Amino acid sequence: MSETSRRATKAVIPAAGNATRFLPVTKAVPKELLPIVDKPVLQYILEEASAAGADDIVLVTARGKDSIVDYFDVRPDLEEALAAKGKTDAIEAIKAPERIAEINAIRQGRALGLGHAVGRAAAHVGDEPFAVLLGDEFCHLDDKLLPRMIDLQAETGGIVLALMEVPPEDVSRWGVASVNPTDTADVVEVTGLVEKPAVEDAPSNLILIGRYVLPGAIFPVLDATEPGRGGEIQLTDAMDTMRANGTPVHGVVFRGRRYDTGQPTEYLQTLVKLASERDDLPGFNAWLREFSATLE
Ligand code: UTP
Repeated sequence: MSETSRRATKAVIPAAGNATRFLPVTKAVPKELLPIVDKPVLQYILEEASAAGADDIVLVTARGKDSIVDYFDVRPDLEEALAAKGKTDAIEAIKAPERIAEINAIRQGRALGLGHAVGRAAAHVGDEPFAVLLGDEFCHLDDKLLPRMIDLQAETGGIVLALMEVPPEDVSRWGVASVNPTDTADVVEVTGLVEKPAVEDAPSNLILIGRYVLPGAIFPVLDATEPGRGGEIQLTDAMDTMRANGTPVHGVVFRGRRYDTGQPTEYLQTLVKLASERDDLPGFNAWLREFSATLE
């Protein structure tokens, strides 16, 4: 692999979906703003993008989800009210989201799929490489998945996916990659992608997680992509067209900490796990141990 292109400095965060698995709450509260105690999921995601150097952010939102953009905007009225009460820690807390990154919001008028949502960012991204971070999962910053992916994309100039191993019997819930090994232990060449295969048809137990680094050349391909599975314009279909036309596709096999919040059980697990690691929730872990014992 040779040094071919610049590093991605832009990130697209699709957050315009209907979040049907969380209804009814998502009728009024965007899934991406569900709290991990007192900090929304999306703030973790923006921090992940920014820490990887992709701090020029495009947030793709939709009708009824303006609170997403408001969350990252300034609140001078609240700052004044907190200042009058001497609550300096709270002022710092509300200013943190504003400081993470440069945020541009665009609308996806209809939830026509992930590929369609990413395509809305074409004018802002242009022909540069860019990262895509799905708005309902995040990785631990110390485990440095996104920086690794951005470095690899700058080397190959192609598509870089994030993959994780799951037990073979669980593959049917996910997109699954067929792969060849490379000389680098945590990098594979991706030779094909299948959505939610039957266990016996799955080409591997490596599933796609919600991180991608893509060349800007994907935008015209997305424009030309017809609706696929579920009537939605699929990012996977556009990536597969590029792969078939010779674009290199690699996967970084991630073995670090990933926090899924896209469905209720995984969201609750993430919430409890991260709450248990905090030292400012007195009595929580003692209660959790006691409560767990009652489940035996
Ligand atoms: P999901 O596949 O989880 O879809 O999207 P969803 O609508 O959020 O949730 P369910 O499946 O109905 O419960 C993954 C990410 O892609 C965004 C979502 O907002 C989420 O952050 N997305 C999905 C869009 O921005 N637009 C779409 O058309 C679809």
